[in-house]
Amino acid sequence: MSGPAHTQEEHQAAGQAAGGKEGGSANETTADQPENRSASGLQVPEDHVIVLFGATGDLAKRKLLPGLFHLAKAGLMPTRYRIVGTAPSQAALSDDEFRKHAREAVAEFGSSKPEGEDWHRFEDTLSFGAEDPDDPTPLLAAVRNAEQAIGGSPRRLFHLAVPPKAFPSVIEVLGKTGLAENGRVIVEKPFGTDLASAQALNATIHSVFDESRVFRIDHFLGKESVDNILALRFANGFLEPVWNRDHISHVQIDVPEKLSIEGRAQFFEGTGTFRDMIVTHLFQLLGFVAMEPPTSLTAKALRDEKTKVFETMRPLDPEHVVRGQYEGYRDEPGVDPQSDTETFVALRVELDNWRWAGVPFYLRSGKSLAEGRHVVTLGFREPALRMFPIGARHFAGERRNNELLIDFADPGRVGIRFLVKEPGPAMRLDEAEMVFDYADSFNSMYALEGYERLILDAMLGDQSLFTRADGIERLWAASAPLLEHPRPVETYSPGSWGPESIDRLIEPYHWSLPDHR
Ligand code: BG6
Repeated sequence: MSGPAHTQEEHQAAGQAAGGKEGGSANETTADQPENRSASGLQVPEDHVIVLFGATGDLAKRKLLPGLFHLAKAGLMPTRYRIVGTAPSQAALSDDEFRKHAREAVAEFGSSKPEGEDWHRFEDTLSFGAEDPDDPTPLLAAVRNAEQAIGGSPRRLFHLAVPPKAFPSVIEVLGKTGLAENGRVIVEKPFGTDLASAQALNATIHSVFDESRVFRIDHFLGKESVDNILALRFANGFLEPVWNRDHISHVQIDVPEKLSIEGRAQFFEGTGTFRDMIVTHLFQLLGFVAMEPPTSLTAKALRDEKTKVFETMRPLDPEHVVRGQYEGYRDEPGVDPQSDTETFVALRVELDNWRWAGVPFYLRSGKSLAEGRHVVTLGFREPALRMFPIGARHFAGERRNNELLIDFADPGRVGIRFLVKEPGPAMRLDEAEMVFDYADSFNSMYALEGYERLILDAMLGDQSLFTRADGIERLWAASAPLLEHPRPVETYSPGSWGPESIDRLIEPYHWSLPDHR
């Protein structure tokens, strides 16, 4: 696994360890393309043609085009590269229209303005080729032209930023035309809607790309969160010994969102929060929080350990799941007035393994909630002997034991909540917090946004932060009881923390959000 904020030595070591293939061999640089490094010493991918399916869509506009430009500005794109946008014929653009589209996208959503020498160089790499399953000629021509402009045999990277129902036809085109040769594919989420559909999708993809060339993307794993969790757990001697059922009573993975469905009714009605957020993002985080120490930071070792966690996940019990829907959701344009789609989920997950047996993991995510946060909390057990008088807070039922908080909203912070004695003659305790804030401590010049980091990793062939076929299938299998027998949705007020029953779900513990200090 490599990381943009590493020193040159660390990055070299990480790059060698990570490798493109699951076996963890060195990255696949070809003989005529020696490994490149950016001015800051970070590894730069080999020459590439990136083909962006869904180039005129929302994701490309908000994240992918601005992200690719940021990578270029940061000196992390290959020495020679071209970006070919593609979309079905009815949405096709000319090269110039695509450049204009990209400029507008970067101006609206990018971290830096589309101007100056950097922008002109980037703009020159853009071209467009319409993709029609019955006539792939324009796309083929655009890819060939891009390859000729680069020279040699650049690597191909296909990013499928298209709705899931379009994945099979795109994969088929890539296979039939031979474009898939020498190529890797990034597949967007949600990856299937249940076990059968995920298995079918895996079979379709594997008929053209072997697993070592498949990058199932989950942009949460490209945030600094996962690296932070791994570093915190495995680089520090004091935490790992207590990271288990002997010391931890429960774990929370909490991702409330303030935004509503924001005009995405069509997508949301057919998906809901469980598929959109829990299976996709929160279960993946759970995998990193709960995993056994990997033998190394190679993609294989990390993904093996994460999959083992998923294998120990008990089938979800619908009795331990709260499905919520915010008041007013059914009045949103495009939403069925009788809709039972959940805009909120809180659930309890249990793992049957030696480290976590008996330790509940509580996961929560929802739209139109009080705050937008990304927080993992580990709640510690009480000391064996309670010597201190019980304070007022305890009477109010509010006192919490020690908590370790990992707030992974970029750039992130880590906090420890503990008890201290109030100054004075009486032995009175109060809660205190020690916080480490990334924003105050590091220069974030190498910080990359989730998608940027992951596209870079895909170009480098590093699969560490991408979901593997067996892992995602296992998650869908564990989700089956809930998908087959969902409980009715409970309503909640926009701006709240969800339906009232979430407090019963987590009893005898308390949600660590909202911050109580
Ligand atoms: C996306 C979901 O994958 O993640 C959205 O489809 C959600 O519904 C988004 O809002 C949250 O991502 P972030 O990075 O803004 O927390």
